[in-house]
Amino acid sequence: SNYIALIPAAGFGSRMGNEVPKQYLSLLGKPMIYYAIKRLCSAHVIKQVYVVLSPEDTMWNEYDWSAFKSKLNPLFCGGDTRAESVLNGLQKIQETVQADDWVLVHDAARPCLTNEHLANLIRVIGEDETGGLLAVPVADTLKRADAQGRVKQTEPREGLWQAQTPQMFRYGLLVKALQALGTDTPTDEARAVEHLGFHPKLVACDSRNLKVTYPQDLQLAALILENLVD
Ligand code: CTP
Ligand code: MG
Repeated sequence: SNYIALIPAAGFGSRMGNEVPKQYLSLLGKPMIYYAIKRLCSAHVIKQVYVVLSPEDTMWNEYDWSAFKSKLNPLFCGGDTRAESVLNGLQKIQETVQADDWVLVHDAARPCLTNEHLANLIRVIGEDETGGLLAVPVADTLKRADAQGRVKQTEPREGLWQAQTPQMFRYGLLVKALQALGTDTPTDEARAVEHLGFHPKLVACDSRNLKVTYPQDLQLAALILENLVD
């Protein structure tokens, strides 16, 4: 089966608190989304890379993407939620894919994915029945608090992981899972697949694959990017 990648990039980045949607914020001189595109386009096994943009996006065409033109396709069909954006994108490419093709869904806001972790995900999940995702074991001690910010209890962190992306599922299963969501709006694809009773596989990554969510994350991403060896 084939491998394709889909980058949902139709969000506003409201927690960043910037005029510009965060995928276009400048990171070491490039729009942040450039790094996700570059990483996925350079994986030989990935045949096509689709970017789901807002129909109102005015910034995509401000940049020169010609270096990636053999694989890269913008789709101006983003929705109100991440799950909708992903489903809209998947439906738009229906004619060009098979149900058992692998889809890697990767956040535009995760610029520091290493080649090694991407290759590892593809290798491990490519052999899997269900699919899976990159994730990191929780490192901090977890407190459950009341509304006043007072600790109610300490939660055991054993067996807890932070979900990252890429998340890798077969096209047919992913579309089915996202269509079945109804009003539930999960923040990742795995959750949708879990709803169908599947148990996605976690593939260990590390904290460098952070999602840029708040302003301070951008500086951290710059530092990590500068120190990536590949
Ligand atoms: N995303 C999307 N369509 C949406 C919402 C989010 O394609 N309607 C994308 C974002 O562009 C991002 C990824 O999903 O690449 C992860 O979402 P998140 O980090 O939450 O980004 P935003 O929704 O843009 O940020 P915020 O939640 O702070 O507004
Ligand atoms: Mg969001």
